[in-house]
Amino acid sequence: MTILVTGGAGFIGANFVHSWLGSHSETLINLDKLTYAGNLANLTGLETDPRYQFIHGDIADRALVSNLLTTHQPTAVLNFAAESHVDRSIQSPGAFIQTNIVGVFNLLEEVRGYWQGLAELARDQFRFLQISTDEVYGTLTPTDPAFSETTPYRPNSPYAASKAAADHLVRAYHHTYGLPTLTTNCSNNYGPYQYPEKLIPLLLLNALAGKPLPIYGNGTNIRDWLYVTDHCEAIQVVLAQGRVGETYNIGGNNEKTNLEVVHTLCDLLAEIKPRDYQALIQFDPDRPGHDLRYAIDATKITQELGWWPRMTFEQGLRATVGWYLEHPHWVDSIISGEYQHWVATQYQGQS
Ligand code: NAD
Ligand code: TYD
Repeated sequence: MTILVTGGAGFIGANFVHSWLGSHSETLINLDKLTYAGNLANLTGLETDPRYQFIHGDIADRALVSNLLTTHQPTAVLNFAAESHVDRSIQSPGAFIQTNIVGVFNLLEEVRGYWQGLAELARDQFRFLQISTDEVYGTLTPTDPAFSETTPYRPNSPYAASKAAADHLVRAYHHTYGLPTLTTNCSNNYGPYQYPEKLIPLLLLNALAGKPLPIYGNGTNIRDWLYVTDHCEAIQVVLAQGRVGETYNIGGNNEKTNLEVVHTLCDLLAEIKPRDYQALIQFDPDRPGHDLRYAIDATKITQELGWWPRMTFEQGLRATVGWYLEHPHWVDSIISGEYQHWVATQYQGQS
């Protein structure tokens, strides 16, 4: 038995690869393009594991994907590969269209051909799992009910629109061709191996370096935060038990304003390395089209599949801070490369 994971050198994908190999005997093939966000250091220790194989390549490369499917005969394909950062999608949307839409289309086409050629039992057992985001649902007011699986898609950023398009393709491949698909829509993740363009590791590393902590607008935007290993567990549960053709919302039941996030993080850091971190908070111009609030109603996955988040935000944040402090080489290698260019273009005046 083999599964094919795409984007397994990124933040969530790498956490998933570690957690899968920690609890399964199946072989795992990891196809990753190694964009700026892909990092083989996220997979250190697996190089000699006979159940693990890394393939450097693009989900949009149909010949490569076809060859991988034929050679390895996976029982499931899990698509984590994506361009994933909203601010980058505002600066340069083209890469988001290419990977998140064209790439997913090419992947689906090759998976469809492979799946149609399988014997009946293998066809029934095969799964294509699309890892998606709550951002496809658009934005909520402070009093709106949380996003459920029946909330209409109203994406507001090029990132969210590209993920919404991919989700629609996945839905269509199930409806039209019968491909056994599953889709998960998850809230904001945080934890080990996250590239520090995203809010929590950005604030953490800036704080440790005594740099400004940039908060867009007035900091009242709300996100639901989920510790990454809880997300990985939810994906495994959906893969094993999810009903074919269904979508499952995954959330942490952890709504926080960005100000609450930065204050909690500053307090935690002050315990570990005393200093006035709050004084570093800086209000920056707002993100264009900044969604006000995301919130997830995870009733379906809890009731149908028995999953719920195990980590509280305080536990998860403590574990995250601990991980970054214990991995200075990982941090150094990230912040010395492409990251500097990103910081210079996104946060003028900082380096
Ligand atoms: P990430 O940016 O950290 O990693 C993306 C990975 O995909 C990288 O390893 C990159 O090299 C790879 N990749 C990019 N384009 C590729 C291509 N064309 N072919 C093959 N590999 C390619 O992203 P992440 O935060 O780990 O997110 C993983 C998935 O989860 C994404 O689909 C994202 O939309 C979704 N998601 C993320 C969050 C979050 O908070 N980070 C929340 C919900 C859903
Ligand atoms: P981010 O981590 O980019 O995730 P997303 O936009 O996908 O939710 O941002 C989380 C929240 O933090 C979002 O409301 C934007 C805000 N934010 C800042 O205030 N400052 C920053 O420098 C960044 C990167 C994000």
